[in-house]
Amino acid sequence: MVTGKRHAVPVSLCFLFLFIPLGVFSLRTLSPDPCDPANQRDTRTLRSDQLTVLINGYSESRIPILQSIAATYSGCPSVSSVLVLWGNPSTTTRTLTQLAHNLSISSFGNAAISLIRESTSSLNTRFLPRASIETRAVLICDDDVEVDPKSVDFAFRIWRSNPDRLIGLFARSHDVDLQQREWIYTVHPDKYSIVLTKFMMMKTEYLQKYSCGGGEAMDEMRRIVDEMRNCEDILMNFVVADETNAGPVMVGAERVRDWGDARNDEDSGGSDGGKRLNSRVTEAGLSSRRAEHRKRRGNCIREFHRVLGRMPLRYSYGKVVNSVGEQGLCNKGGKLVFCDE
Ligand SMILES: *[C@@H]1O[C@H](CO)[C@@H](O)[C@H](O)[C@H]1NC(C)=O
Repeated sequence: MVTGKRHAVPVSLCFLFLFIPLGVFSLRTLSPDPCDPANQRDTRTLRSDQLTVLINGYSESRIPILQSIAATYSGCPSVSSVLVLWGNPSTTTRTLTQLAHNLSISSFGNAAISLIRESTSSLNTRFLPRASIETRAVLICDDDVEVDPKSVDFAFRIWRSNPDRLIGLFARSHDVDLQQREWIYTVHPDKYSIVLTKFMMMKTEYLQKYSCGGGEAMDEMRRIVDEMRNCEDILMNFVVADETNAGPVMVGAERVRDWGDARNDEDSGGSDGGKRLNSRVTEAGLSSRRAEHRKRRGNCIREFHRVLGRMPLRYSYGKVVNSVGEQGLCNKGGKLVFCDE
């Protein structure tokens, strides 16, 4: 009798510890200055065997997709934790509490998923340094793309051998319009200089470079991101290229499910990346919305170039695919596809 009672208490305590921290603490908002060195981890203590995933969430109608994506990342061997950054200030606390609870259940047995309510809807907040990040690498992603775990692990292996580069699955380019004599945003069949935040892997230190470094020029460029409500991904590409004098590395994924980005109607690169895109965008019937999107992105490149006084973006060529024997790429009808398809 006595021993039975003694057992009952710890079990119910376990439940409290399991659910209260996940439901309540994970809804914390960010209040102390993230750029204050006192609030930052010593980079020497960061672990490099796994990475942290930062997923941006905004649209309530996409919560089911977001949950599926978060659960997939949480089951990847190379992922140590998943942070869902909620940037929509009008979402009720009730919905977010429910979401935090659902996320904690779906991460059971895998990497923990926590929900963080952002204090502003600024796109810059996705790149804020956070003391909760315990890894040397982060994966920045959107709530619209689901990538298979093997490809996440593969991309992480590529990052580990190229720790200063940006690693991505979806690539675009800057270029010069010779007639207009201005910078534009485009897609090239054979080269790229920008990777998108649909899937962007990089060292955690770059969060600090983006958010805290760079003096007045960075202040102004972050302000441009807020004004345009777009282009934070392009700015990160500027920051890293300026630091490394090298372009990003594009990695091929095995399976990508892309639900499309509602925010900017970005077209999907999918597993064949820029190749398929190029044939699409050169079609005569480029939708006006897509054209408008490209124009806005071109404006960002011009503005960043104006503020910085130089063009740091560099081209890269080709993409890294997992073990050529298994995942070789074949040219079928002008399209690159996996040979076993
Ligand atoms: C949480 O899960 C429940 C049960 O599956 C579902 O009805 C609800 O819509 C979910 N809510 C959120 C905000 O994720």
